[in-house]
Amino acid sequence: MYNIIIKARDTIISFFYKVILKRIFFLSDPEDVHDRMIGVGKFLGRYAITRRTTAFLFSYSHPMLEQNILGINFFNPISLAAGFDKNAELIDILPSVGFGFMEVGSITGEPCAGNPKPRLWRLVKSKALVVYYGLKNDGAEAIAARLKNKKTTIPLGISIAKTNSEKTIETEAGISDYVKAYEKFINIGDYCTINISCPNAYGGQPFTNAESLEKLLNRIDTILASKPIFLKISPDLNHDEIDGIIEVAGRHKISGFICTNLTKNRNNEKIKDAAVPEKGGMSGKVVEELANELISYIYKKTNGQFVIIGCGGVFSAKDAYKKIRAGASLVQLITGMIYEGPQVISEINQGLISLLARDGFSNISEAVGADNR
Ligand SMILES: Cc1cc2nc3c(=O)[nH]c(=O)nc-3n(C[C@H](O)[C@H](O)[C@H](O)COP(=O)(O)O)c2cc1C
Repeated sequence: MYNIIIKARDTIISFFYKVILKRIFFLSDPEDVHDRMIGVGKFLGRYAITRRTTAFLFSYSHPMLEQNILGINFFNPISLAAGFDKNAELIDILPSVGFGFMEVGSITGEPCAGNPKPRLWRLVKSKALVVYYGLKNDGAEAIAARLKNKKTTIPLGISIAKTNSEKTIETEAGISDYVKAYEKFINIGDYCTINISCPNAYGGQPFTNAESLEKLLNRIDTILASKPIFLKISPDLNHDEIDGIIEVAGRHKISGFICTNLTKNRNNEKIKDAAVPEKGGMSGKVVEELANELISYIYKKTNGQFVIIGCGGVFSAKDAYKKIRAGASLVQLITGMIYEGPQVISEINQGLISLLARDGFSNISEAVGADNR
């Protein structure tokens, strides 16, 4: 009965979103809509009554979706990916939207205004976004102060990145910037992600180079902290570069990888729109297959030794399940929520139960890597 009611609820909200809200949203500038949604989310998170109403409309739970990974209890495997809640303003409301965990940021050592506007576009035919924000955020100090003493009801990931500035191009300066952000969050959140794959920052992605990454992780190793660390990687790396990163990660305190960030490659056959802005990285269906390939590659190469968080183009339970069967223990999304509506989190979680039951699994952890063992 519970499942039937949830399904009916999600169908009604999905219809309302696609027929009314999305049409209105898609008439406006995407960054303006994003900013307005942050405002709505902040308001809804402020009061118990609005949090409870949101949970009534969007939450879904099932024991088959619960996992303990690296000592952290995840109520379900779906999270909002880094980049939507850049300044950690939504952590009071995201649990009510049905997420099993949440990741904020990316947060940089110094505050950063980001790249000049426009810096966010929709590729509607491709079901993707083009992102050229350039790590706009309030900076580690302000965001850490915002989160200090905050209690969260679901696990919280802190994504850190190198400040988008000429001043951090040199390797040592870049490392100091990462370390500044890392140290501010030692006692905040449940895990940390080191984002080495922002496609829109000064100096490119220098820490995808094994030698520079080694230097960065040597410094991170010297800092006493007990939280697991993930590396977020680009879908545009070749296998040699990935092998280098895996090798370095194995020598340091890295628990896993987030696969993947945005793709910059314009020669992607999933691009269906005639015009694509020159700058920026692409999300959604354009990056989905690249992310899935990387999940499989790392899972097989390391025999499942690292925890993988799959990210890119998840719009449905089937999409999420593909990543899980490829080797992802957890899944993140942004673009799917924008195109499908916020009820998609509940739809994915409910759909996963049917897919797990179909394949004879009693818990999601049993399906992880099933296609690549
Ligand atoms: C508006 C926007 C901003 C983003 N900003 C960040 C960021 O600051 N840090 C990061 O690691 N990834 C960022 N990303 C990448 C996402 O976290 C994710 O890796 C990518 O969008 C693929 O997932 P999706 O297809 O579900 O959107 C951003 C994505 C979008 C759409």
